[in-house]
Formats: sequence, structure tokens, C-alpha cells
Amino acid sequence: MPSLPPVIAIDGPTASGKGTVAVLVAEALGFHYLESGALYRLVALASERVGLNSSDAVALGQLSSTLSITFKDGLVLLQGEDVSTALRAEPIGKRASEVAIHPQVRAALVGLQRSFRQLPGLVADGRDMGSVIFPDASLKVYLTASVLARGQRRYKQLIAKGFSANMTDLLRDLEERDARDQTRENAPLLIAAGAKTLDTSDLSVDQAVRQVLAWYQG
Ligand code: DC
Repeated sequence: MPSLPPVIAIDGPTASGKGTVAVLVAEALGFHYLESGALYRLVALASERVGLNSSDAVALGQLSSTLSITFKDGLVLLQGEDVSTALRAEPIGKRASEVAIHPQVRAALVGLQRSFRQLPGLVADGRDMGSVIFPDASLKVYLTASVLARGQRRYKQLIAKGFSANMTDLLRDLEERDARDQTRENAPLLIAAGAKTLDTSDLSVDQAVRQVLAWYQG
């Protein structure tokens, strides 16, 4: 059987910097990139627009399997509309964490995520990349940082994108989201078997990227 293209799986909690690191590692290796969190954010946004309750597992599962999602030139399109900025709003991140608890939603997104595994390779970030979606990944990284460091990063990201943000609310939401993502029954955030942990609280982006590349190439 021909071997599948290699995957580097980078999982970790909200605002740990995994997206930034994953994009740069993918660029350095010339690999494809999958931001799986964007898919859950898309389900959150689309379901909010049609007025679905975030607890309606069956309807959310159906919606997830019918969405037209396109990633193009760094933009995310939902049914052809550019929703790249709308996806980053904090309430959408919170709702993404709520809709992501449903097995129906997760199952609907498995095939799409695995379709990103193409030559010469893939860097995928999220919560269950190394544990569920790509359990045979060549390298699994659990990328984390202190709550304070993550809160500060998220604050800067939101302000830079023109959203308003309040540090106290952000830290509370972050901890709530961590707890939901880590304790759900289906594909919770955990340190996958064989994963290497990287705490980036005191690392620059460049140092974190170099460490992941060294692990992969070493
Ligand atoms: O990575 P992010 O913060 O954009 O993800 C938003 C939410 O989506 C996150 O709180 C939980 C969910 N998610 C998930 O359940 N599984 C993934 N692989 C990625 C994200």
C-alpha cells in the first residue's frame, strides 16, 4: 500500500499560538495547512445565522454536512461569502466550542479534514488532530502556554482585528472554553499518545517554530 503523505499534528488550548506556529511550520516545509478550529467556527456562524440552538445536535449535524466551505488565498468562504473576519469574533469561538461537543457535528467534519492530507504533507492544528483525525501523524505536538500569556495574545489579536476586548472577560471565557474542550466526552482536548509538549509562555514565535521543525527533522 502506498504510504500516506506525512502529517504534523499540533493540538492545544485556545489562544496557545498553535495557529501561528502551524502556519509558519507549513510554510517552512512547503506543506499544506489545515486550521480545524475554523470548521467548528463555520458551523457556529452558519447555525447562528439560521437560528439553531447550540444544543440541537441533530440539526447541527445535518447543517455541518451540507455547508459549502472553501479555503482560498488565506480567506475562508462560507457558501461563497468571505467570512474570515466574522469567524474570529470571540462569541463565535465560544459557540464553536459549544457546537463541537456533539458527535454528529464532529463526524460530519472528519472526511473534510482528512481530505487536506495531500503531498508533500500537511500541518494540522486543533484539539484532536493527533488523537482522532490523524492518529498516525509523523509528529504530534501539544502546544500550550499559561492562561495569562494566552489571554494577552488573544487580547492583542482581537484588538488588531478591530474587535473590542476586555481582559477580565477574556480570561474567564478562556478558562470556561478550556474546561468544555477538555471534559467533553467526544474527542476531548488531551495530550495525544506520543505527543511532545511545548510550553510557549516564554518562547518567541520563532523559537517555537524552530523547535517543531527540529523535532520533525530530527
Ligand atoms: O482553535 P479555535 O479556538 O479556533 O477553535 C474553536 C473551538 O472549536 C474550540 O474551542 C473547540 C472546537 N474545536 C474542536 O472541538 N476540535 C478541533 N479540532 C478544533 C476546534
